[in-house]
Amino acid sequence: SKKPVRVAVTGAAGQIGYALLFRIASGEMLGKDQPVILQLLEIPDEKAQKALKGVMMELDDCAFPLLAGMEAHGDANTAFKDTDYALLVGARPRGPGMERADLLAANAQIFTAQGKALNAVASRNVRVLVVGNPANTNAYIAMKSAPDLPRKNFTAMLRLDHNRALSQIAAKTGKPVSSIKKLAVWGNHSPTMYADYRFATIDGASVKDMINDDAWNRDVFLPTVGKRGAAIIEARGLSSAASAANAAIDHMRDWALGTNGEWVTMGVPSNGEYGIPKDIMFGYPVTCEGGEYKLVEGLAIDEFSQQCINKTLAELQGEQDGVKHLL
Ligand code: NAI
Repeated sequence: SKKPVRVAVTGAAGQIGYALLFRIASGEMLGKDQPVILQLLEIPDEKAQKALKGVMMELDDCAFPLLAGMEAHGDANTAFKDTDYALLVGARPRGPGMERADLLAANAQIFTAQGKALNAVASRNVRVLVVGNPANTNAYIAMKSAPDLPRKNFTAMLRLDHNRALSQIAAKTGKPVSSIKKLAVWGNHSPTMYADYRFATIDGASVKDMINDDAWNRDVFLPTVGKRGAAIIEARGLSSAASAANAAIDHMRDWALGTNGEWVTMGVPSNGEYGIPKDIMFGYPVTCEGGEYKLVEGLAIDEFSQQCINKTLAELQGEQDGVKHLL
C-alpha cells in the first residue's frame, strides 16, 4: 500500500474546511488508494482551536480507512512541516467599514507569514492552492515569500468560476455538464474573471455556434458567473462553501492525478503567456499530467476577449501594487 502524504489545510474550522476535510480524508482528492495525514491550521484563538477539535472528533468518527493521521496546529511553522499539499483556505474576511487597502494589508500579512513557513519547513515539492480571498493576490504573496520553492507550485483557485460557467452552459444548451470540453476562464477570481467558451465543444460541435448569441454571453452569462458568489450569499445568508470546497478538490485532484488531456482552469504564475506580465497569478486554461500543469498556448484572442482580459489584468495589477510595499 502507498505511503501516506501530508495535506495541510488552513482555516480548517471554517465553513469551507467543514465541507472539504471529510472529502480529502475519504480519498476524493488524491485517490482511493492514497492514505493522507491531515495537518490542520487555525488561528491560535481558544474558540477556533476548540472548534477545530470538534471537527477532528467528527473526522475520527467517520473511521476513514485512508486517514493515517491528524494534527491540530496554531502556527504555520509546525502545520506546514514536510507537507506535500497545502490548501490555504483561511483568510481575513472584510469586516464592517474595512477599506479594500486594509483587507489587502491584513491578508498580505497572513500570506507572507504562511509563504515563509512553507519555504522553511514544507516538502521541497509542496503543491499549494490558495482559496482564501483575494485568492490570486494571496497566492502571489505566498509565492513571493517562498523563494526556495518552485514558483510553478503556487496556484490560486479559479475552478469554482470554471465549474459555475460549465453549469450555466449546460443549462443554456440542454446538454450534460460532462459533455462540455475546452472551456477557459481567464484572470482574477472576482467578478472581472472572463469565462470564455469560444473554444468549447460538445460532442465535437462548437458551443459558440450552438449558443450563437453574443448579447447572452455579454449580458447574461458573464454577469451570472461573475456575480454568482454574491447571489449565493443573498439566497443562503452565507457564502458558498460546499461548492468552493468541491472546486478545491477538483483543482488538487486534477493537478495530482491528471486531466487526460482535458482543459481545466487554474490560477498560475504567468511566464508572459498571452501578454500577461511575469508572476501575475492569472487564470489560464491548463491540462495536467504526471503531477504538473501545462498551459494551453496559442489560442486566438479576439477584440472582445482582449478587452475582458485587459480588465481583469488591470484589477490584478492594482491589487499587486497595493501590496508591493508589504513584500
Ligand atoms: P470562514 O470564515 O467560515 O472560515 C475561515 C477560517 O479561517 C476561520 O475559521 C478562521 O479562524 C480561519 N483563519 C483566518 N485566518 C487564519 C490564519 N491566518 N491561519 C489559519 N486560519 C485562519 O470562511 P470560509 O467560508 O471557509 O471561506 C474561507 C475563504 O475562502 C474566504 O477568504 C473566502 O472569501 C474564500 N473563498 C474563495 C473562493 C474561491 O473561489 N477562491 C470561493 C469561496 C470562498
